[in-house]
Amino acid sequence: MWQLFAGAFQPGAILRPSRLRIMVTHYFGGEFHWFTRSSYWVSFDHAHRSNAIRASKIPREEIFITTKLWNSDHGYTRTLQACDQSLKELGVDYVDLYLVHSPLSSPQKRLDTWRAMENILKSGKARSIGVSNYGVHHLKELFSNCEVHPSINQVELHPFNLRKELVDFCHKENIVMEAYSPLTRGERLNEPELVQIAKKHGKSTAQILIRWCLQKNFVTIPKSVKPARILENSQVFYFELSASETAKLDSLDEGFVVAWDPTKSK
Ligand SMILES: NC(=O)c1ccc[n+]([C@@H]2O[C@H](COP(=O)([O-])OP(=O)(O)OC[C@H]3O[C@@H](n4cnc5c(N)ncnc54)[C@H](OP(=O)(O)O)[C@@H]3O)[C@@H](O)[C@H]2O)c1
Repeated sequence: MWQLFAGAFQPGAILRPSRLRIMVTHYFGGEFHWFTRSSYWVSFDHAHRSNAIRASKIPREEIFITTKLWNSDHGYTRTLQACDQSLKELGVDYVDLYLVHSPLSSPQKRLDTWRAMENILKSGKARSIGVSNYGVHHLKELFSNCEVHPSINQVELHPFNLRKELVDFCHKENIVMEAYSPLTRGERLNEPELVQIAKKHGKSTAQILIRWCLQKNFVTIPKSVKPARILENSQVFYFELSASETAKLDSLDEGFVVAWDPTKSK
């Protein structure tokens, strides 16, 4: 299973073919998971990414594309339409992973949305389907009325927010945890314990946070628009955090949220 992917979403940022090539080169020597999302910026965002794919001349099958169903597109018919629209704007026949961006809907609408997601999977327009920002209660609700379980739950995860109950539940149910904002958007990179561990390994604190995700068996999507940092964030494979270092990082848990937290919504 690929565990490290490049987050590519940034409102207003244009993904240049050269940067796409840098990402593909540095992430697993050619395989690249590209995370975008359908959102307010959909036309702008997807149109530029579609240009980047074409201009980079990288074969489609070498790029792992994830996109998301935005909250305002929940519901059976809207979900199907939104998926078709995203494929059109991306200029591709399928995405590798299609995610429900959040559970922020009524329970019935969530179930209708998931029924459409299952049909998208069956039709081949998505190779896999998952959710994002789902809490344990949202997942149990989904399990009560579905044919296919989500393959992934993408939530904010880093040592400052372990979400132990959710992670344990998902792992028990064979749902892969995908950690977003793994670098706390840069807000906690100077934490003394983190700096100390980074110094010991001759690594940056960003690399330690990414390595921590990998050793927790999370998939993670650190985002940078800077080629040097994209390279840095990919160089996390030839060292290992010890059990005591992992425990020290785990002890930093304080439920810190840097993005948002719909996992606790009704
Ligand atoms: N599902 C959801 O609801 C949800 C919510 C939030 C985020 N996400 C996704 O998760 C992905 C990553 O999360 P994120 O962008 O929120 O946060 P992040 O990856 O934790 O942090 C990104 C920030 O860290 C900086 N950075 C990157 N590499 C660095 C390094 N080596 N050293 C120092 N600073 C570094 C970046 O700046 P530069 O770009 O200038 O390098 C950027 O400001 C994104 O693709 C995003 O779309 C999903």
